[in-house]
Amino acid sequence: MSKTILITGSTDGIGLETARMLATLGHQVLLHGRNAGKLENARHSLSSLSGGGRVEGYVADLSHLREVAALAQAVAEQHAKLDVLINNAGVFKTAETRTADGLDVRFAVNTLAPYLLTQKLLPLLGASGRIINLSSAAQSPVDIDALVGRVPLPDDFNAYAQSKLALTMWSRALALSFDADGPVVIAVNPGSMLGTKMVKEGFGVAGGDVRIGAEILVRAALEEEFAAASGQYFDNDKGRFAQPHRDALDPQKSQEIVRSMEAILGETTRSGQNADAS
Ligand SMILES: NC(=O)c1ccc[n+]([C@@H]2O[C@H](COP(=O)([O-])OP(=O)(O)OC[C@H]3O[C@@H](n4cnc5c(N)ncnc54)[C@H](OP(=O)(O)O)[C@@H]3O)[C@@H](O)[C@H]2O)c1
Repeated sequence: MSKTILITGSTDGIGLETARMLATLGHQVLLHGRNAGKLENARHSLSSLSGGGRVEGYVADLSHLREVAALAQAVAEQHAKLDVLINNAGVFKTAETRTADGLDVRFAVNTLAPYLLTQKLLPLLGASGRIINLSSAAQSPVDIDALVGRVPLPDDFNAYAQSKLALTMWSRALALSFDADGPVVIAVNPGSMLGTKMVKEGFGVAGGDVRIGAEILVRAALEEEFAAASGQYFDNDKGRFAQPHRDALDPQKSQEIVRSMEAILGETTRSGQNADAS
């Protein structure tokens, strides 16, 4: 049966390849990107796939939390139901490391944006939905002061690795917060050093076959083996579910991440409302 699947960051790399595979299988793919021209190119190329499902495009820069909320609203205006949300968009190296909200871009795009998008789209996902979060083998203990933007982080790798552990931590915390009536939430390391823009620009190497990452996301979105794995971490370097970083198994630390994110989102919403009123 055809599923409706939103993939963030599907204008390039693993996200684009995953979208191509899912569209070819006949699923309705909702593409997302921050660059309207790149998004339209992706939509056009996927729409012309033979036997492909319907393809739509949504523009939003996920480093702006208000655009994340607007993305959720735009999707909800077009769709009463979403089967799968793949939080794939991610950033490693960037010229400008701070967002307009005063956050590190890696925490904003890799950790907070998927959390906010997921929260806003929960009513569409229902009990049978799936949320697939793109984690990484790069995971470092999270400095809460850095997460909330109080202190800068020393380098790109550190910021990226902290943002990916924070994502892995909230993925498990959210999964555990649902009873049987919540959607499945799974964090997936798609495989390390796959040859995407992120890896080429960030590490200066050609990298491996991008399809390795896309194939595991297709499985996570569709296959039965993932339906009963909510809260787990799939490590595609190992090709199986595996233990995440120990901090992701610590409920107190994970709750602290969730509380900090909720505080940031509350503040950002309030300052947005103040700006609207003035
Ligand atoms: N490649 C690997 O070996 C590897 C390993 C572990 C985890 N991952 C994870 O896999 C995911 C996909 O990465 P990739 O390797 O395919 O990298 P990529 O080719 O650089 O693709 C990243 C995607 O995210 C989008 N994006 C970045 N910043 C954004 C923003 N502010 N707003 C909206 N969209 C934004 C990009 O848009 P543009 O097209 O406009 O740049 C692009 O579509 C990421 O979460 C990454 O951390 C990758």
